[in-house]
Amino acid sequence: MNLVPVDYAAQVPELMANLHAPGLLLVVADTRRPANVMTIGWALFGEVWGEPLCTVLVRPSRYTFDLINRAGAYTVNLMPPGNERAIQRCGSVSGRDVDKIAEQGWTVRTGETTPAPYLAEAVLHLECRTVFTTPVTNALAPRLLAGNYPKGDLHTIYYGLVTGIFRHG
Ligand SMILES: Cc1cc2nc3c(=O)[nH]c(=O)nc-3n(C[C@H](O)[C@H](O)[C@H](O)COP(=O)(O)O)c2cc1C
Repeated sequence: MNLVPVDYAAQVPELMANLHAPGLLLVVADTRRPANVMTIGWALFGEVWGEPLCTVLVRPSRYTFDLINRAGAYTVNLMPPGNERAIQRCGSVSGRDVDKIAEQGWTVRTGETTPAPYLAEAVLHLECRTVFTTPVTNALAPRLLAGNYPKGDLHTIYYGLVTGIFRHG
């Protein structure tokens, strides 16, 4: 597998299209095994502070939450067609209970620009270093607060500086 550096803006439409369905895979270093994966459906791709940023949202109840806080880095992985069931599975079971990457037979590689792990089977991955975090608070617009947080568990937002974007050849 070859890693080909690519332009960020040119990848955004495809990333956006896959966010809605089936989802992208957020991969972080784990303490029990090389990495954990969870499905994400929400993210922001763009430029902030004059830098390329990829922002992800993780609820405190996720196993990923402590891992991403500890690691300070993460990757966002776009999987090829045919992985829809696996992506759904990674968004419905927890790394507390299941080694999701081993279950799928996926291969973990270490990032080129950060120590964050990524999946060799992805077609594209973004390497990100957390530069800022902020919790969603009750100051969120009432309609969005009621609709998305009936049980609390308000997301933390991770602003990741995109240090590398690679297509897998
Ligand atoms: C399509 C889809 C999108 C999801 N998006 C998010 C998300 O953006 N943020 C989040 O915290 N959980 C999201 N989830 C839920 C987590 O992926 C799910 O709770 C997962 O089991 C957490 O894994 P973990 O406990 O190993 O971290 C999503 C689930 C699905 C199926």
